Amino acid sequence: MAARSNPITPLTTNSPVNYLAIKHLHITCAAISGSFFLLRGLWMLTGSPLLQRRWVRVVPHVVDTLLLATALVLVFWSGQYPFVQPWLTAKMLALVAYIVLGTVALKRGKTQGVRTFALVAALATLAYIVVVALTRQALPGF
Ligand code: HEM
Repeated sequence: MAARSNPITPLTTNSPVNYLAIKHLHITCAAISGSFFLLRGLWMLTGSPLLQRRWVRVVPHVVDTLLLATALVLVFWSGQYPFVQPWLTAKMLALVAYIVLGTVALKRGKTQGVRTFALVAALATLAYIVVVALTRQALPGF
C-alpha cells in the first residue's frame, strides 16, 4: 500500500472504488451515529424511558465500532495519519471529547443542567468534526 501524494485522490494499491466504498460507509456510519446521538439527547431531555431500552444502548456501539474501523482503513489506505496530518489529529482528539461529553450527557451527568450543557457541547464538537472532515483543516477558515 503506497502513501498517496495528493490528499484528494487516493493512490493506493487498493482500487479507488474500494476506497470510495469504505469512505461512503464511514460517512454513513457518521451520519447514523450523529443522528442517533441527537435522538437519544432529545429522549434524555424529555426523560423518555426509551433511553433505557437494550437495543438503544447496543446499536450505538455497533455503529461506532464500524465508524472507527472504517476510519482506520481510510487512514492506512490513504497514508494520512493522526499526529502527521494536523486535521486528522484534531479530528481524533475531537472524537475523544465527543465521546466523553456524550457519556456525561446521556449517562454520567448528575443534574439535568449538566447533562443539557454536555449535550450541547457534544453536538458542537460533532459539528466541528464534520467541518474538519470536509475542509481537511484543523482550524477551518483560518
Ligand atoms: C464522529 C466521528 C467522525 C465523523 C463525523 C467523520 C466524518 C467524516 C466525513 C464526513 C468524511 C468525508 C470527508 C470528505 O467528503 O472527503 C470523512 C473522511 C475521513 N475520515 Fe472521518 N469522521 C469521523 C471519525 C474519524 C476518525 C476518528 C478518523 C481517524 C483518525 C477519521 C478518518 C477519516 C479519513 C482518513 C477520511 C478520508 C479523507 C479522504 O480520503 O479525503 N474519521 N470522515
